[in-house]
Amino acid sequence: MKLQNQIAIITGASSGIGKAVAKSMASEGATVVINYPFENSKADAQAVLDEVLQAGGKGIIFQCDVSAEADVQNMFASVIQQFGTVDILVNNAGIQSDSPFEEMTLNKWNAVIGVNLTGQFLCAREAIKEFLRRGVDESKSLSAGKIICMSSVHQIIPWAGHANYASSKGGINMLMQTLAQEFSPKKIRVNSICPGAIQTPINKSAWSTPKALNSLLELIPYKRIGQPEDIGKAAVWLASDNSDYVCGTSLFVDGGMTLYPGFTENG
Ligand code: BGC
Repeated sequence: MKLQNQIAIITGASSGIGKAVAKSMASEGATVVINYPFENSKADAQAVLDEVLQAGGKGIIFQCDVSAEADVQNMFASVIQQFGTVDILVNNAGIQSDSPFEEMTLNKWNAVIGVNLTGQFLCAREAIKEFLRRGVDESKSLSAGKIICMSSVHQIIPWAGHANYASSKGGINMLMQTLAQEFSPKKIRVNSICPGAIQTPINKSAWSTPKALNSLLELIPYKRIGQPEDIGKAAVWLASDNSDYVCGTSLFVDGGMTLYPGFTENG
């Protein structure tokens, strides 16, 4: 039980990567706050909680739009009131809203930056306030708190037709590194996970037909699509004391996507 007695808020945990991270952390003893954005994802969040409880874990569901400041402040205040503190934040909530650049509306730009980047800022700020207030409690962890930013291979791989998304992920990298530099002296660890192509609803068009999957696999040296559990395991490690000396790092979990396999027989 690597996360025993720790409280973990996982944003965007009603599906995809967030769901797997919540289940993995709960199986290691964390009490998980399964965040979901709107009423229409409440049933999915509840289903994740049901799985957690059936497996003997602990948790709650909590609605909050991470791009809304008051919502985020309310979520942290409520969780701290109910459980006493927060030990782990997984800044996972993310959306894609793709468009050729010349047609990209300001709404599409703002929506993606709002959830993916501003959402991470707002949640990290509340988490860090709480970590600073509490300090280290060695009965639970060697550090005062852990933040895991869910980034993407697209924090370094440019992505045509996804300027809003790629920009948000590039921004997350610099937010993460800056927070790590600022708060490592306070024993707060901030790191990122950069998933490659993970089989979730966000990229269904890239794996739902054999043709699409085959062309996706050309980009993945390890020749399989990632599973949400691949990210769940990495998140547990980054949140646990097993990674206590890891500060400000991007952990690529991508089957080698960032090895630029197009250069294997070219260039
Ligand atoms: C995106 C997916 C994409 C993957 C690899 C992720 O960040 O959300 O849609 O399949 O990167 O390109």
